[in-house]
Amino acid sequence: MLVTGLEILKKAREEGYGVGAFNVNNMEFLQAVLEAAEEQRSPVILALSEGAMKYGGRALTLMAVELAKEARVPVAVHLDHGSSYESVLRALRAGFTSVMIDKSHEDFETNVRETRRVVEAAHAVGVTVEAELGRLAGIEEHVAVDEKDALLTNPEEARIFMERTGADYLAVAIGTSHGAYKGKGRPFIDHARLERIARLVPAPLVLHGASAVPPELVERFRASGGEIGEAAGIHPEDIRKAISLGIAKINTDTDLRLAFTALIREALNKNPKEFDPRKYLGPAREAVKEVVKSRMELFGSVGRA
Ligand code: G3H
Ligand code: 13P
Ligand code: NA
Ligand code: ZN
Repeated sequence: MLVTGLEILKKAREEGYGVGAFNVNNMEFLQAVLEAAEEQRSPVILALSEGAMKYGGRALTLMAVELAKEARVPVAVHLDHGSSYESVLRALRAGFTSVMIDKSHEDFETNVRETRRVVEAAHAVGVTVEAELGRLAGIEEHVAVDEKDALLTNPEEARIFMERTGADYLAVAIGTSHGAYKGKGRPFIDHARLERIARLVPAPLVLHGASAVPPELVERFRASGGEIGEAAGIHPEDIRKAISLGIAKINTDTDLRLAFTALIREALNKNPKEFDPRKYLGPAREAVKEVVKSRMELFGSVGRA
């Protein structure tokens, strides 16, 4: 069933588990995520970026919204990193039930003003809103306190931001970053900062850049001819701890992309004569589904629907 993001996330924060927001760009990813959610009896969030909407167009948004309605578990269809009011309006018109407005690169007052404007429009049609405060940046453990403060979410500012904007959930910057290169070894996560934010902000908190970039997947990608440097992701224990401190929505894109592409590479290498796309997209879809299912186990959302 199609529900708002807040409906899913409020329960998650209250009961202390996380819900995955998985980025989808095509039919195979959509099917993989929804099948995983139904098999795990887990609520789920389908995340479509502006890039996904441009690539997949009306075909993708129609599939996402209609399949979400038919799903036997709660599903929210979410705009990931909406960059403007206009972009949010397009998502609302397409039937999304959750939107993100990301003005985190603007100054505080601009972020407040632009977010407030989006909250008014979205709430008028019953859609809930994610906003972001702070910069997503990989942080080295030894980085000076004032340098961290300049980048990462300030707890007191977060409290004021949520009160002034009326946003429903908040993406925080605590050291994670997007993509396959999140730092060296085990990237540093500022759990102490998260704890302080969570004490001041009762709304569900959101972790971007949460992919694990699992070494086995990186190795399979490499072994099949893919080129990738010193990739590193977020340790499962750091995710578990973040959830125990108030993170309710966990964004994952990179892990799914890696799995999908590694399996396509493997399938094409194995049978160079094959040119039926179903023969290599099928196994790739299955691999995405397996990653999603294991993420749901890590987040603790299995059996919550
Ligand atoms: O945070 C961004 C997401 O991973 C989506 O990426 O803008 O390339 O679709 P994208
Ligand atoms: P990853 O690149 O770690 O998968 O993060 C995805 C994300 O935050 C999407 O908004
Ligand atoms: Na998002
Ligand atoms: Zn993100």
